[in-house]
Amino acid sequence: MYAPPCHIDVDWISFDPWRITTVRHDYARHPLLQMGSLAQLAERLDHRDQTFSFSGAARANANFNSVALTHPNRHDTANTLRNIRDVNAWMLLRHVQGDPVYRGLVDEILDGIEPDLSQVDPGMCYRAGWIFFSSPRTVTPFHIDRNHVLLLQMQGTKTVYVWPPDDRIAVDDGARGHFLDCHRLDQVHWHEELRERAQRIVLEPDMGVYMPLTSPHMVEMGDEPSLAMSVSYNTDASRTRARQHVVRERARHFHVGLPDIGRQPAFDAAVSLGAQAAMRVEHWIGGHADVDGSRYAAVE
Ligand SMILES: [Fe+2]
Repeated sequence: MYAPPCHIDVDWISFDPWRITTVRHDYARHPLLQMGSLAQLAERLDHRDQTFSFSGAARANANFNSVALTHPNRHDTANTLRNIRDVNAWMLLRHVQGDPVYRGLVDEILDGIEPDLSQVDPGMCYRAGWIFFSSPRTVTPFHIDRNHVLLLQMQGTKTVYVWPPDDRIAVDDGARGHFLDCHRLDQVHWHEELRERAQRIVLEPDMGVYMPLTSPHMVEMGDEPSLAMSVSYNTDASRTRARQHVVRERARHFHVGLPDIGRQPAFDAAVSLGAQAAMRVEHWIGGHADVDGSRYAAVE
């Protein structure tokens, strides 16, 4: 039977790539986001070590890098998905763009927004998709990400606490640079007082939120099981911003203080160009620096 294509509604008139904004969508009815298809995907990804899970005992202050070890989920993937209401666990299907079927879904979602997005934030690359299953009242620990994120709620309700990408009280720029350089969250620390500064967004099915690169966020599930999907990407500007953070992080190692990002735009531009050249050399000698701007994020 013919099903009309799904859509995401973004207010493009007011959209600013560096500002948190809510969206609406109807992807919950997509055939690939029904439990039968998702269970098959989970089985395929389990074999490729692309599932990530932890116990509902983890709270906002857990380290997202190590939470699967510090708070292990004792249930296997199939059991977790089948009994998500009762297992008190949190599960992520990682890098679904690496799956031939779900790569199509990631493209469908991002192709739907790219024509409008590219008018204000061109150069979309490193497309990726992530699917989240969460038991009632579990928590996604406080963290930042390496990309712009569009989080779409499909089932259940959650409260997203999110802070602007340049909020230096929630997360200081040193921690942002360290994370973007090393992918480690050990300098990102949760404090209960941060709630007062947060933008608090209650997501119900058919709602979503766009969070720019390095916007700190923490999520608390509601009283029902939650199913959500996020798509992520970088752009010319987000890659530039990431390079500026990494340069400052490396300069700090040499006790060189550079002006905060955004204070001196000409300086920022020069820093980014220099960093781009340095990262090409780093990549050439075997590093994992951002250089190729490829369509999809590498599956890690
Ligand atoms: Fe995130």
